[in-house]
Amino acid sequence: MQTPDLVDDIAEVLIPEADIQAKVRELGAQLSRDYEGRPLTLVSVLKGSLPFMADLMRAISIPVTIDLMEVSSYGGAVTETSGLVRILKDLSASIEGRDVLIVEDIIDTGLTLNYLLRYLRGKNPRSLRICALLDKPARRLVDIDIDYRGFSIPDRFVIGYGLDYGEHYRNLPFIGVLKPEVYSAP
Ligand code: IMP
Ligand code: MG
Repeated sequence: MQTPDLVDDIAEVLIPEADIQAKVRELGAQLSRDYEGRPLTLVSVLKGSLPFMADLMRAISIPVTIDLMEVSSYGGAVTETSGLVRILKDLSASIEGRDVLIVEDIIDTGLTLNYLLRYLRGKNPRSLRICALLDKPARRLVDIDIDYRGFSIPDRFVIGYGLDYGEHYRNLPFIGVLKPEVYSAP
């Protein structure tokens, strides 16, 4: 992959920065009400969820602890997930008895999250819920209840606000779609 031209490679902005920020504030306010007085731990999944996690935690007004995991799916093309998940970085503290909220960038097939849910349930949290910024329902392969959802988006490969194509474009502040020639470039 060539060094990407961050602005020139964008075909369309799907969700502008202001809309993301407004939604994050809304989710933060709702979570602050719903988890009032409860021991909330936010668990986010690197690397894609990093900007969302950083913004969401600052939109929450009740005490929280945070933890980070990193997973990767085995094999598959750059724009596909295989469902086989490998844990690259595990939780650093126990979540037993805590109210846990998984903070995810995007739920596509649902395979990654399905694996994570089973893994985290095994650690006996008091509750386990999901907050996803983006939901791509058209591609779902496993049924998943998303408790807090930012935006539902059409079946397109998106980049920005943490999401990558070949590890690039994560630093864009909006969610967008790349020009077709960028995906087809060798
Ligand atoms: P799932 O297991 O198919 O739900 O895929 C989840 C992961 O695949 C996300 O956390 C992303 O890392 C990646 N992913 C899925 N769809 C997109 C996309 O449109 N753009 C960038 N990454 C994506
Ligand atoms: Mg992710």
